[in-house]
Amino acid sequence: MTSNSRRPNIVLAGFMGTGKSTVGRIVARTLLMPYRSTDAAIVELAGRSIAEIFAQDGEKIFRRIEATVCEEMAMRDGQVIDTGGGALLNPRTREIFGATGLLVCLRADLDTIAARVGDDPSRPLFGTRTDIEQLYAARAPIYASLPFQIDTTGRTPDEVAEEIVELWKQHR
Ligand code: S3P
Repeated sequence: MTSNSRRPNIVLAGFMGTGKSTVGRIVARTLLMPYRSTDAAIVELAGRSIAEIFAQDGEKIFRRIEATVCEEMAMRDGQVIDTGGGALLNPRTREIFGATGLLVCLRADLDTIAARVGDDPSRPLFGTRTDIEQLYAARAPIYASLPFQIDTTGRTPDEVAEEIVELWKQHR
């Protein structure tokens, strides 16, 4: 985390369905910090839904927009940033968020993830159980490399948010 005078961001990362958005909003409300979502910023910037961007332009272009949005967000401080599940796969994004904030990876087992996400057409990468298992396995080493890990399986969003608030108090 940064040692200069900027107020650190809290950056939530992790696979789809690990609770980043729900927990992020609670953390932001608790700490009176603005909540920002990279997915929402992408939709605003592109003027299209994420599903539309994937369908019309493909994942590569989506990742480019996502990286730009992350870079812009990392320039500000004191925010709770909810990142899309693939955002931190980009090494530069990991570096800039790691340097400017408390980088927390939320985790959950695959049954929990499948139950939380369900059949959501707004998530183009969320496919069959096998697809999810493969995607999760491919990303697991990157998620595991993030500085702080919190398992959300069997826990309420309030409980997870409380743990993040405590973590932030210890590390700010
Ligand atoms: C993605 C996760 C989504 C969204 C996009 C791609 C991913 O965000 O950014 O559909 O690559 O894991 P959530 O993690 O908020 O669902």
